[in-house]
Amino acid sequence: MSIGDVVEAILSSKYLIAFTGAGISAESGIPTFRGENGLWRKYKPEELATPEAFRRNPRLVWEWYKWRMEIVFKAKPNRAHYALAELESLGLLKCVITQNVDGLHWRAGSRCVVELHGSLYRVRCIGCSYKSELREPPKAIPPKCPVCGNLLRPSVVWFGEPLPSSEWTRALNHAYKADTVLVIGTSGVVYPAAYIPFIVKENKGVVIEINISDTPITSIADIVIRERAGKAMEEIIRAIKEGMGFTS
Ligand code: APR
Repeated sequence: MSIGDVVEAILSSKYLIAFTGAGISAESGIPTFRGENGLWRKYKPEELATPEAFRRNPRLVWEWYKWRMEIVFKAKPNRAHYALAELESLGLLKCVITQNVDGLHWRAGSRCVVELHGSLYRVRCIGCSYKSELREPPKAIPPKCPVCGNLLRPSVVWFGEPLPSSEWTRALNHAYKADTVLVIGTSGVVYPAAYIPFIVKENKGVVIEINISDTPITSIADIVIRERAGKAMEEIIRAIKEGMGFTS
């Protein structure tokens, strides 16, 4: 299976979506969760990414998220993010459904982005409806709500929490309409997000996996590209643009 197969599948699709995970941002310097240098190899998720952990020790949780924000806010989109944004502007890609909280898809220019697990660029109060955007990590941690004085938390989905219903509904709407899904850089082990490629498969759609290693999604993939996301996506977008008469 080759890049040519992916290009053919993309050009013959009527409703192409992308489903992305931490692997698409690895080449932007953002650590993944389950690779050999993965965050969950060094830290215990139950100590840092659960509502109980936050109740128990909000300062520790904020120290970890401040460290992640410092990495993410300095990171830049890579060739894979830009290639997906270009596929959208060429009218070939309908939407990116991402598990990532790093904002790199919209920072690369993608306009339809569903952030299933929230975003490090947003915080919200645990005591009232106050919400805010961040462009840099909070100075004092744990930050306090300017309205009610309660703690602010990162607006990300922690283990044991439901996905934001509006985002999950958007993702399902796209998945049920999709006839092709580009699955890029995800281990496919966290639900319900990992249902997305299976929904496309159940509807007789084409599943394309771009990953450097096998995952539970490999077994349902029609096309498997064992390649880093940046290189694979750059080759795909170049071939598509050449085929459409663009000079590369
Ligand atoms: N190119 C393509 N794939 C890559 C690259 C790369 N350069 N680097 C790593 N990968 C692959 C790995 O092989 C792995 O399959 O990306 C995947 C990353 O998997 P995870 O670290 O588990 O990340 P993800 O699938 O996004 O995790 C899902 O788990 O902890 C929660 O909320 C968190 O959104 C996250 C969810």
